[in-house]
Amino acid sequence: MLPRDLPEVLAIEQATFPIPWTHESFLHEIERNPFACNRVVRSSQGAVAGYTSAWMVDAEVRINNIAVGEEYRGLGYGEALLRSLLDLGKTLGCTAATLEVRPSNSAAISLYTKLGFRESGRRKGYYTDTREDALVMKAFL
Ligand SMILES: CC(C)(COP(=O)(O)OP(=O)(O)OC[C@H]1O[C@@H](n2cnc3c(N)ncnc32)[C@H](O)[C@@H]1OP(=O)(O)O)[C@@H](O)C(=O)NCCC(=O)NCCS
Repeated sequence: MLPRDLPEVLAIEQATFPIPWTHESFLHEIERNPFACNRVVRSSQGAVAGYTSAWMVDAEVRINNIAVGEEYRGLGYGEALLRSLLDLGKTLGCTAATLEVRPSNSAAISLYTKLGFRESGRRKGYYTDTREDALVMKAFL
């Protein structure tokens, strides 16, 4: 993900999440966070179909954000994106990956389970908009 990708990334982000990340937060991850790994996946026409933002810190891939544009969902982009992130993490010496997900988000939970993530805990009232708990999921790489 480069700064020039941000208009497309932000369009997906704003259409997807109730509390979207801002331009500034993505830019901070791209330009100033030495632990950050931000990637996009492109359609065959070259448009940004999806993206992920993670930290690689203390031998762990911490996935902070992942989304695929609505018109590109169900086509394998999310899986390709996540697999490539986990492969990169493994290559760089990470031994595990973690993330938080809403228990109601069955599509994401199914994707994570497919790629080896299992529930490892819960954070009470983690999502400030609905006060929903977060499931913490972890995969060993
Ligand atoms: C979750 C998300 C990233 C999946 O991306 P995607 O490109 O649509 O997923 P893929 O086409 O690569 O599918 C891979 C796997 O995900 C799961 N999956 C994807 N869409 C699903 C759906 N609608 N229902 C159930 N499982 C689904 C399946 O396990 C699928 O594997 P399969 O094809 O063998 O059944 C996408 O739905 C999305 O952007 N959702 C909104 C943002 C979001 O919830 N992000 C996660 C926050 S924690």
